Amino acid sequence: MRNQRYLSVHLGIATRSHREKGRGRSVGVTLAIILGFSGLVPALGQMTQDTSATSDTLPKINADGWTSAEVCGECHQSIFAVWRESLHSKAWSNPIFQASYRRCTDTFGKEQSRVCLSCHTPTIRHGNDFDVENTVTSEGITCDFCHSVSSIDLSDKADPFRITVGKTKYGPLHHAQSPAHETINSQLHTRSEFCATCHEYQNANGVTIFGTYSEWKQSSYAKKGKQCQDCHMPLVPGRVVALNVKRKTNSSVNLHDISGSHDIDRVRKAVTLDLVGYEWLSEQAWVYVKVANVGSGHCFPTGLPKHKAVLEVTIHNGSELVGRREIPFEVVMLDKDRRLLKQEHEILVKAASIRSDTRLKPDEVRIIDISFRNIKATRLVLNAQLYYMYSTEALVEKDGQQLFEPVEMKFLVASRRSTMKPLGH
Ligand code: HEC
Ligand code: HEC
Ligand code: HEC
Ligand code: HEC
Ligand code: HEC
Repeated sequence: MRNQRYLSVHLGIATRSHREKGRGRSVGVTLAIILGFSGLVPALGQMTQDTSATSDTLPKINADGWTSAEVCGECHQSIFAVWRESLHSKAWSNPIFQASYRRCTDTFGKEQSRVCLSCHTPTIRHGNDFDVENTVTSEGITCDFCHSVSSIDLSDKADPFRITVGKTKYGPLHHAQSPAHETINSQLHTRSEFCATCHEYQNANGVTIFGTYSEWKQSSYAKKGKQCQDCHMPLVPGRVVALNVKRKTNSSVNLHDISGSHDIDRVRKAVTLDLVGYEWLSEQAWVYVKVANVGSGHCFPTGLPKHKAVLEVTIHNGSELVGRREIPFEVVMLDKDRRLLKQEHEILVKAASIRSDTRLKPDEVRIIDISFRNIKATRLVLNAQLYYMYSTEALVEKDGQQLFEPVEMKFLVASRRSTMKPLGH
């Protein structure tokens, strides 16, 4: 708190780079020139003891190690608040990951499960805190990790990151100046390649377990230059740092609101469902259902193979169920003995081949025909429902014990209903 007050008093005149909406067209608008800290006259009582050491009162950035998000959050408050609710901040702590990580360690050993940490709590890449003892490690994909990435090399699959840990923060702004840290403008941070470091993974058998980046790379979005950030990290009106500084009305901030499939409304806009027709001759009927990926920059679903979508089509005669079909949109993985893999840790470590991939590609429009036989009715109600599903487990604490509990996520993306009559009626 003390630091915030300090900042609002003294940094009201700091430099602020301002970006226009739209990537690659950033403009630096210097609102004021930052004052040298030695020249500041601290106005707050508790800070007047030592004017020459004013920068000591600023939140501390660790010069040769990681800095906790809590520290960054003292100045970058709105970004911190949204990041803290995101899956990036929970990539280590979330009970679904914890369950899977525990299974992985129990089944394949600690050495193997370090691979999981390299994405879920990437700060282990510097400092080797494999037992997750430091707070900053438990922060999952924390601010300081992403903003210490100076370059990447995607051909170095095990270690694509080049990181510079310490006082320098890499980000998308031009001419940014911060009293707490150095800033370096990084175009990399505005590009999909940055996200590819974690959102693309081939296991030791060479099987692509998640291919979100390569799915995007082959899509029309990549051709149009629409990056992951354009959909998952939109700019909104607001402040990069909390300061009592007069700013232009169009000042904007990237709140790091990455919500993906956990945002129902976003999924609903991205995928459409329509009943396009039917044929019904005596006791047999065909129905035609159209599903389209109109707004997702990669396959629907993408990411973890256990994330799937299911189209449920039913026909009813009054209240009697006459027929029911389920069409999955998913990736099915097999081990080297062609056994079906079900749990995340097994898929990640043991997948040796892909049996099928029925997901919707970006921009794909698919007409699905479904037939029903032995129909004895003269009027039917057709229902089509598209669900997004993830069935897994979580590690939860109950009465001092850690237990695995099943988790079922299922939500309706779209539904359509229509009545049918046989030909000639
Ligand atoms: C997954 C990596 C990642 C994490 C975690 C992350 N950032 Fe960022 N941050 C980015 C990227 C990428 C951009 C640039 C996005 C764009 O505009 O294209 C960015 C932009 C910024 C900017 C520039 C200002 C702006 O509004 O664009 C600041 C400041 C910033 N982040 C601070 C933080 C803080 C503070 C945290 C933690 C609370 C944090 N970031 C967590 C990747 C990350
Ligand atoms: C004392 C306040 C303060 C603290 C603490 C702080 N920052 Fe900043 N940061 C700023 C200011 C001020 C700017 C410049 C904002 C501007 O120009 O609009 C900035 C800019 C940035 C940028 C943009 C750099 C660029 O060139 O795009 C990033 C990224 C960033 N900070 C990350 C962090 C991270 C990560 C932490 C924690 C390790 C952190 N900051 C801690 C005040 C702070
Ligand atoms: C250091 C690795 C890493 C980097 C870099 C990274 N991510 Fe992630 N991301 C993850 C992990 C791990 C998860 C899953 C966390 C979990 O569910 O436990 C995730 C989850 C997500 C989700 C799902 C959120 C939801 O609510 O469903 C989105 C969207 C996402 N990341 C977008 C991005 C974008 C965009 C970038 C690039 C700016 C990026 N990520 C960079 C590791 C990373
Ligand atoms: C055109 C906008 C768009 C672009 C570009 C885009 N996404 Fe998405 N993303 C979406 C939408 C919409 C969803 C929700 C529907 C879905 O799951 O496909 C989503 C979902 C996700 C999810 C959650 C998947 C799940 O099932 O939990 C992740 C992770 C993700 N995106 C990462 C990325 C990454 C990484 C990139 C860049 C390589 C990217 N996205 C590019 C729109 C986009
Ligand atoms: C290359 C980076 C990477 C590695 C290595 C990795 N993960 Fe992940 N993990 C991700 C990303 C990215 C997501 C989010 C996928 C999505 O939603 O698209 C994720 C999601 C998950 C989820 C789903 C969490 C949720 O909240 O929905 C589990 C469980 C998981 N990973 C377990 C593991 C385990 C266990 C390992 C080690 C065997 C591992 N991961 C290794 C990047 C990685």
